[in-house]
Amino acid sequence: MSDQLVFPKDFLWGVTTAAYQYEGAADEDGKGPSIWDTFTHLPGTVHHGDNGDIACDHYHRLDSDVELMAELGIGACRFSIAWPRVQPDGSSAVNQAGLDHYRRLVDALRARGIEPVVTLYHWDLPQGLQDVGGWTNRDTAKRFEDYARIVADALGDRVERWVTVNEPYVAAFVGYASGQHAPGLRDLGAAVTAAHHLLLGHGMAARAIAETAGSSAQIGIALNLVPVTPASKSDEDAAAARRLDVHLNRWFLDSVLLGRYPEMLLGEYVHLVGDDFLRAGDLEIIRADLDFLGVNYYTRRTVAVSADSKVAPPTRRSSYSSWLGVDERPRDDVPRTSTGWAIEPDGLTEILLRVREDYGDIPLYITENGAAFFDYADPTGAVRDPERIEYLSSHLVAAHAAISKGVDLRGYFLWSLLDNFEWADGYSQRFGIVFVDYRTQQRIPKASAFWYRGVIAANAVDGPQSAAGASATGQSAHQPD
Ligand code: FCB
Repeated sequence: MSDQLVFPKDFLWGVTTAAYQYEGAADEDGKGPSIWDTFTHLPGTVHHGDNGDIACDHYHRLDSDVELMAELGIGACRFSIAWPRVQPDGSSAVNQAGLDHYRRLVDALRARGIEPVVTLYHWDLPQGLQDVGGWTNRDTAKRFEDYARIVADALGDRVERWVTVNEPYVAAFVGYASGQHAPGLRDLGAAVTAAHHLLLGHGMAARAIAETAGSSAQIGIALNLVPVTPASKSDEDAAAARRLDVHLNRWFLDSVLLGRYPEMLLGEYVHLVGDDFLRAGDLEIIRADLDFLGVNYYTRRTVAVSADSKVAPPTRRSSYSSWLGVDERPRDDVPRTSTGWAIEPDGLTEILLRVREDYGDIPLYITENGAAFFDYADPTGAVRDPERIEYLSSHLVAAHAAISKGVDLRGYFLWSLLDNFEWADGYSQRFGIVFVDYRTQQRIPKASAFWYRGVIAANAVDGPQSAAGASATGQSAHQPD
């Protein structure tokens, strides 16, 4: 007799997708180039030289992909709008064909009873704006506000839930400091400035949506939250973990929800870029009055103080680990996904509880959670992915644990519906509950898709007791020796 954990009534069960990772049609119907179009066509930037020119060809397969979601019983689809489809160079006149495409997508979803949730920025900045500095240019926040207003005006009568920016931390620090993502810069100072302008753009866009789409609009942001655990009980490791936590999590949570930047790193940011980046009134704008917070959760990080424990003042060339004085201490006692990320579902409970403790009762959604594994279609054409079922069910159990402790969690969006273009990893990492054969664009629902359909239908997941049974088979393929 399985012990079922039932989710609240009206819990929203969704999937998340993103324009550059799915759509293809890179220069069709008037779309301008984005920084990801540029970046992926430079040598040596992406695994295997892959790019999103075609991706899952979702732009042309909108109807059948929506049909597939309906068959799986999906209740909501969080997708992103490609800014350069709407404004080809980021500030020019509107490209009506781009808006029409998203209107069709929204209408197709709604016709099948699937709630559309719109993300305005999932990293594909118009190249025209990058040419004048991208997110290091304060004016980009203003351009983003204009774009938000255009989209809210076009779709506000049929979209209720809005996410302004996806993971500003990653967009800023992976794009401008480590250079693994577009625009591929390696400049810590540029990343700090970009982070501030992404947050400013978020606040300005949130207001623009509220003014344009009307009072029923529900507006939030999706932050990647990463619990940081010290590798030992020493005070030094605890301090190192705190520094990384401020950098990754508190910087974004405090500014968006409380309208302040944590003191701990502010001085170092100012040392890097001068105090002109933060102007009077900015933090009031960043603290938009949000209706919900989106949490993207994949893994936690375990860190120790770096061997070179004297933290030097940062320079623009510093790597963030030397700047923060932290060394990663990857655990060897937990299973990992094919991206190498440690599977630590209790981190999800921890982060959800912490948000409530530190910031009060704002409604929460898990706006992304999922895992990549080395999936393949077997000779019968089936794709069995017990590791993913194990990952997802353990994370739903963890989400449920937070709900039982009083967290106001309203929905779960699985990353992702389809296998897709995984940024610097190209097509090598498969995150979908539906397998994509990229040669033919055939979609094959994996075992996890049928499993998720069952979860949605029951509004419940098997409790840890029964999930442990499933894991015995699920784990075997990837169990370390
Ligand atoms: C998140 C991104 C999403 C996807 C997953 C695996 O950081 O928002 O686009 O790449 O990671």
